Parts: sequence; structure tokens; C-alpha cells
Amino acid sequence: LPKELYGKRRNSAGFEFGHRESLEALMARLATENKSVDATPLVPGAAGQTEVVNVLSPSDRSRKVGTVRNAAVADVDRAFVAGRKGFVSWSRQPAEARAACLDKMGDLLEQNRDRLLALLAAEAGKTLDDGIAEIREAVDFCRYYAEQARTLFVEPEVMPGPTGESNRVLWRGRGVFACISPWNFPLAIFLGQIAAALVAGNAVVAKPAPQTPLIAFEAVKLFHKAGVPADVLMFLPGGPDIGAAISAHPQLAGLAFTGSTGTAQAINRTLAAKNGPIVPLIAETGGINAMIVDATALAEQVADDVVMSAFRSAGQRCSALRILYLQEDIADGMLEMIEGAARELNLGDPALTTTDVGPIIDEKQTAMLKGHVEDMRKTQKVRYSGQVPNSGNFFAPQIIELDKPEALTREVFGPVLHVVRWKAKDLPKVIESVASTGYGLTLGVHSRIEATIRAVTDALDTGNVYINRNMIGAVVGTQPFGGSGLSGTGFKAGGPAYLMRFALEQVVSVNT
Ligand code: SER
Repeated sequence: LPKELYGKRRNSAGFEFGHRESLEALMARLATENKSVDATPLVPGAAGQTEVVNVLSPSDRSRKVGTVRNAAVADVDRAFVAGRKGFVSWSRQPAEARAACLDKMGDLLEQNRDRLLALLAAEAGKTLDDGIAEIREAVDFCRYYAEQARTLFVEPEVMPGPTGESNRVLWRGRGVFACISPWNFPLAIFLGQIAAALVAGNAVVAKPAPQTPLIAFEAVKLFHKAGVPADVLMFLPGGPDIGAAISAHPQLAGLAFTGSTGTAQAINRTLAAKNGPIVPLIAETGGINAMIVDATALAEQVADDVVMSAFRSAGQRCSALRILYLQEDIADGMLEMIEGAARELNLGDPALTTTDVGPIIDEKQTAMLKGHVEDMRKTQKVRYSGQVPNSGNFFAPQIIELDKPEALTREVFGPVLHVVRWKAKDLPKVIESVASTGYGLTLGVHSRIEATIRAVTDALDTGNVYINRNMIGAVVGTQPFGGSGLSGTGFKAGGPAYLMRFALEQVVSVNT
């Protein structure tokens, strides 16, 4: 960007689904985007495993979207050896050159939008509006981090000091950084971590979730096309064995992870057990996210926001609403409205515009959800179970009323909304029960009483708090995203401090 345009960045454009001609044209283009993707490791000198695994669509298990040849454990070391070399020249480039690569990547994502959208639907089961939002988020990450890097890394910061001495703070890359990402945002989160690590001056080894290697492979190829050298960004598709070898590698300079709390804790233990440099872990995990609704809330808006927060993306967002606290005076009416709205949701093929809720990512997750609802049925009241299509990996929205909040003991990653009632005098107990989970990712409050909003927000240190609106879909550069406690380490993705965690701060003091 020319200097006069600094700070003038705009988030990427959306798509108007209500405009018939544009939608018909998009659907016609998407119908031609069905080429198989065959992913392999992208590491100089690595061939990967001999076995080639089919990647099947979650909404139609008879549909092959492509294949993946996973990395062999020995490829991890190859990636670090190559990455150490790549790092030397990459980190010495001016920050402007690295930022320009991210801007170029943003452009390439936009130019390839239709292909990526089709792949997000086929491989990850993303509905079209979720897919569009995810590609926009990916573009925004690139441009936002490019802009941040130009502010933070281009010129050293001059510090005041005594006469005869100059003091400057420099930010430089740390080395070979690992990025390990989840299947629920296989493009935006995968790429957001990588973009941040690269622009801060690191080489990167990236491991996608085993469920979604194809879109990640396409993203890495686009990064290479945008000018990132092959030994600066390397791709290691595979399962936990690859993740474990990456975390344990002695040359690892830092690790960004998004996924479950349990895996983040395991990575943390691996990093701590190493007898080498102490490296940063940037973890973003999940939450038992709550929404607190009092009797003054606007009922229609609550119903809309609850359904959106709990069931959009089939509840497969770390930000999704898991437990709704309804003040008892309004609970019956509210639940009727919420159930009515849930009944209107269309489950099905994510590539159709009529679909509101797509599939669950795989059989293991579906079995976990079924098991949870069956367990709950034994002691709690399952109020609503929606209908599922006959085939594919679907799980219908569920509404379960709990006799007490403690009945929900863990994050349930899917379209399952738990509800508890509370009495007006018991707001402090509600706050205590939200805090007691130890998580702190997202929190919703619906109330027209300023004192209630203040009481809740003052008492809880949840990372992202949403008042009188839904609680998903944080926007890059507008709602920096990430949690506290069991939900993550910070700094927040898409926020002004994120890049700092990927960089090394060096102070040079010169006696002049
Ligand atoms: N950033 C996403 C959201 O806000 C979740 O990962 O919904």
C-alpha cells in the first residue's frame, strides 16, 4: 500500500444472496468446480507415505472430493531442516516484502473464490453463506496482518535514552514456527495462523486437520504463488503422529494451535518437557459458551440470535452458544419461539442455497453427539430434536433443558443447545456458574438493564462478549477473537497484538 493509504484498509466484499442474477451465475459457476484435489506433503525432498487416502464429502459419503498422501514422520525433520535455511533469507527480507506477499495472497483468494467455495462445501460441509464468510475472513486476515506488519515491523522503534547512546527496538522472526489448525475453519484459521507467522518473519510448517487436507493444500499452493518460497512455507498433512513430532522437534521456535483444550494442554506439556529453548504457545481452544437472557430482553431478537449462535454451521464453531440461561418469567414463551425457529431450519446439501445447516464433519463427531444426547436423555429433558436427511453425516438441532447448569460438564461441539432457568434474584449465581467452567471464549447477554449488563461483564473475563446480538462470526480487525482460561492463551486473532507473539523483540543499544 502507498503510505497515504495506511489505515484505509477495508474488509473484503460479501455476496448478495438476494440478488437473483448474481446467485444464478454463482450456482452455474459452482456446478463446474468439481475437479478432484490430490494433496501431498509440500516439503523439499519429502515424498510422504506410500498410501493414498480418499477424502469423502461429509454430506455424501459416496462422493470422493480428492485424495491425500499424508506426510511420513521422517518428513517432519526434513521440513525443519529446509525451514531453517528458508528462514535465514525470509527473515532478512524487508517486512514490506513479506507484507506484499500477504496482500497478493488476499488477491489470489478472491480470484479463486468459486473454486474454494465449492471445495469448502464438498470437503468441510460448509453452507454457501458460511463458505463466503470464511473466504472473506481469510482475505481479511491477509490484508489486516499485512497492514499491521507495516505499522509494527518496518521501522525499528527508537527509545529515549541518555545523550551519546541510541536505543532501538527491533522485531524479527523467531525461526521455524508450527501452525496446527482445526477442521471447522479449514481455510480461515489455517491460513490466518500461517499469514501471521510468515509476516512476522518466520518460516512455517503447517499441519491441517486430518479431515480437511485438500482446502489447506490449495491454500499453501496459493501462498507459494503469492511469492512465499517453498522452503519458507511447508505443508505436512497427517494425524496426531505428525502433530506430536512437530511439537517435540528441537528446532521448533513457536507453535500456534487452534483446536480442543485437551490437545492444547498436551502440546503445552510436550513443549515444557523439552530440554531446549523455551518457545511460545499460542492456543485458541473451545468453551462452554453461555448466553444470559433476562426478562427485559427483546424476545424476537433473542430467538433469532439463539438459533444463529447455537445452530449455524451445525454448532461447529468454538464460539457457538452451548448453554442458555433464561430468566424463568419468560422461559416458556422464549423456548416456544426458539423451538419454532429451530423447526424452520433446513438441513441438507451445503451447496444448495436452500440449506441452513450442513453436515457434521465425520462419523466420530456424529457418534459423540448421539452419545451425548442419549446420556442426557437419562436425567434431563430433551425438549426438541429436529429431523435429519436420510443419508450423509447429519445431526439435527437439539434443545435440552437442564435441571442445573452443572449437568453440562464439557464442551459439546455440535448443534446441541442446553437451557437452564434462573430466578431474577439469582443473577450472582448465574455469573458464578458461568465462571466456574474455567472457560472464557464467548459470552452473550440479552438485557435492557444497564446494571445487569455491567454486573455480568464486570464479573467475567470472557474473551469476546456480545450484548444484545448473536455471539458468533467475529470480524477481523473489528472483533479480535480469542479466549481466556481453558479457552486459550491470547493474543487475539485478527487483533492489534496478535503478530507480536510470533516475533522476537530485540533491543540494540549503541554507544555513539
Ligand atoms: N471466529 C469464529 C467465530 O467468531 C469462531 O472460530 O465464530
